[in-house]
Amino acid sequence: MFAELKEQPPDKILMLMQLFREDSRPEKIDLGVGVFKDATGNTPIMEAVKTAEKQLWENETTKTYVGLTGDAAFNDVMCDLVLGDAVPSDRVASAAQPGGTGAVRQGLELLRMARPNLRVWVSDPTWPNHLSILKFMGVETRLYRYFDADTRAVDFDGMMEDLAGVGPDDVVLLHGCCHNPTGANLNPTQWEALIALLAQTGATPFIDIAYQGFGDGLDADADATRKVAASVPETVIAASCSKNFGIYRERTGILIAVAPEADRSLTQSTLAYLNRQNFSFPPDHGSRLVTMILQDTTLRTAWESELEHVRNYMLELRQQLAEALRAASGSDRFSFLAEHRGMFSRLGAAPDKVEKLRTDHAIYMVGDSRMNIAGLNPQSIPILAKAIVEVGI
Ligand code: LMR
Repeated sequence: MFAELKEQPPDKILMLMQLFREDSRPEKIDLGVGVFKDATGNTPIMEAVKTAEKQLWENETTKTYVGLTGDAAFNDVMCDLVLGDAVPSDRVASAAQPGGTGAVRQGLELLRMARPNLRVWVSDPTWPNHLSILKFMGVETRLYRYFDADTRAVDFDGMMEDLAGVGPDDVVLLHGCCHNPTGANLNPTQWEALIALLAQTGATPFIDIAYQGFGDGLDADADATRKVAASVPETVIAASCSKNFGIYRERTGILIAVAPEADRSLTQSTLAYLNRQNFSFPPDHGSRLVTMILQDTTLRTAWESELEHVRNYMLELRQQLAEALRAASGSDRFSFLAEHRGMFSRLGAAPDKVEKLRTDHAIYMVGDSRMNIAGLNPQSIPILAKAIVEVGI
């Protein structure tokens, strides 16, 4: 039977992770997969997470099943973190998921149950796994213009033009903040215009928010998601705790569906059904830590301040890289790096130049020239700047 299997395309991001591991050059720099690294190159466990784990180890008395949609307390704190008080709770259905990716997949499953002939619009470019999951599920997918290759900012006119024709059966996949892979984001005025378009066309927004707290702050990063959810009848949201709690391997995320009050209960039971079909109970360890942190004032304050430190550190790296490139190239053409937000920026280099960075300089970034800014440190910045100019980007 297995001989009939077809070779699947490798995941571009994970493949790069492997190549980096196998590279024996000591000076190698990893700007591939989206993982935060501190100045020593380590991906630390946050203090609040460590403390919560200790408390959990001391106090947890059972590992029996929780609920199909996860622990209600986790769902409450996460809905609060993402939505604030933007929509009344009797409009919110939610289910814990194995990470942000699990939430994206389950969100699409939910939408497809409601609309078997679903059509999903995604930004060009988007996180490669969005496209891969959509293809795997056989969901019709369309691209909308998003990134202006010249300015490295959002091509908002192009985006609005492409989305002008969407209808009530369409889903528009949006990045709530910190767009992956470009780092270019809509400003509040552009979000307002997009919300008006969604309201007018009746298309359903599906917001992937995987980096809340990495851009402009916890509330600022959720602002657009909250405004969308408050403005249209139905919104689907996939939120991840991997990055902002640094608990990547614990697979902690949530799917939130904002529905009209009359449809909330059906939506909630469908979410439970979907979890049961796909994996039964969602992972508990990471979500329990998140709940403890968000419910306890001391832990929450510690977490928020560490997250704020991570965010400011990434902003500083952006400034330093833009400055180093200004000096190395004698031009302002890389100043967009300081304007972008989140972990990533798309440099805008051709694949052969990206390849040259890897082969000649042991610098790893995704083939579309997406850099993980959080993979840099003050020592590697001048090395990267010099290499970028040397390969002719
Ligand atoms: C990334 O884009 O690098 C992260 O979201 C990790 C992943 O799963 O691809």
